[in-house]
Amino acid sequence: MNIRSEIVGCGSYLPERVVTNAELSTRLDTTDEWIQSRTGIRQRHLAAEGELTSDLALKAAERALQYADIPAAEVDMVVLATTTPDNTFPATATKVQTRLGMTNGAAFDIQAVCSGFVFGLSIADNFIKTGQCKTVLLIGAETFSRILDWEDRSTCVLFGDGAGAVVLRAAVNDPDANLGETGHNRGPGILSTHLHSDGSTNDLLYVDGGPSSTQTVGHVRMNGREVFRHAVKNLASIVEEALEANGLSPDDIDWVVPHQANKRILDSTARKLGMAAEKFVVTVDRHANTSAASIPLALDEAVRDGRIKKGDLVLMEAMGGGLTWGAGLVRW
Ligand code: UT7
Repeated sequence: MNIRSEIVGCGSYLPERVVTNAELSTRLDTTDEWIQSRTGIRQRHLAAEGELTSDLALKAAERALQYADIPAAEVDMVVLATTTPDNTFPATATKVQTRLGMTNGAAFDIQAVCSGFVFGLSIADNFIKTGQCKTVLLIGAETFSRILDWEDRSTCVLFGDGAGAVVLRAAVNDPDANLGETGHNRGPGILSTHLHSDGSTNDLLYVDGGPSSTQTVGHVRMNGREVFRHAVKNLASIVEEALEANGLSPDDIDWVVPHQANKRILDSTARKLGMAAEKFVVTVDRHANTSAASIPLALDEAVRDGRIKKGDLVLMEAMGGGLTWGAGLVRW
């Protein structure tokens, strides 16, 4: 393959309002101690009344385009991963497209819940590699607070709102470069993406409503213990799959930017893979689980504070409702 996709910019946005565990414990039968010890979460950001997924997405997108120094007019495609669109239709991506002043290209939403960003990364990468797009804006944005049952302490304490975005651009491989057996020494860009789903586990994590079933939006329902068990198993196996596909070992990875569901899931995955927990970028303590937004939020933080540097090998991985899970390996 002569074309690869490079991540040339990132950006993120969190709503202003911060809700601590202590605040939640004033209206729910829960404690800061329970939430922190079971999940590592200390606080979450929640969207203000009237602040929509498209508002968060737009701010993250503007920041990513500014970082990349690319005008919106050059974007061929907007892919927005979300479980909490502004409306059932039109796609929230089209709202972002028009607010960016774009009249060109295509914009659409994708739904893979917490794995949405990794699924979007794969879509963007494939459109670029086939030559159909040159510049893709990929956004993960959620107002997950709107689909929580605020009476259900076993789920509502776990999630938050936010958005993150990246800009991907086509880059041409140097035809004289030695790509080696695995092709991974070819400069910055996406090395590979890996996606899975297993619909037989739908009932472990789902929303009990929707336009076709109940004509209501519904609320998140989760069998936390089972999801936890599947997460550690599936995330370790997807990381191994990504490493194997590129002839790499866990030691080669500089940073893991995981979906942020639970600090204990991150630690268990690191242990299972024999990787240092310090290589995992962690934001779950401050953001909680922001579903499709969690990876680009964590990525943006680690890029801007200088942890992720040019040349680093960065592995992104996620699992969510469906169940869906996936990974993307990127040379920064
Ligand atoms: O994005 C991907 C999707 N999400 C995930 O990956 C989440 C995966 N699951 C988890 O993170 C964990 O399973 C949870 C954090 C959801 C729960 O932790 P756990 O250690 O698996 O707890 P549990 O569900 O087994 O519940 C233990 C106890 C229960 O009480 P009993 O039945 O033992 O008396 C719950 O009622 O904790 C109780 N509990 C709470 N207590 C205080 C549940 N939620 C709360 C709460 N505060 N907020």
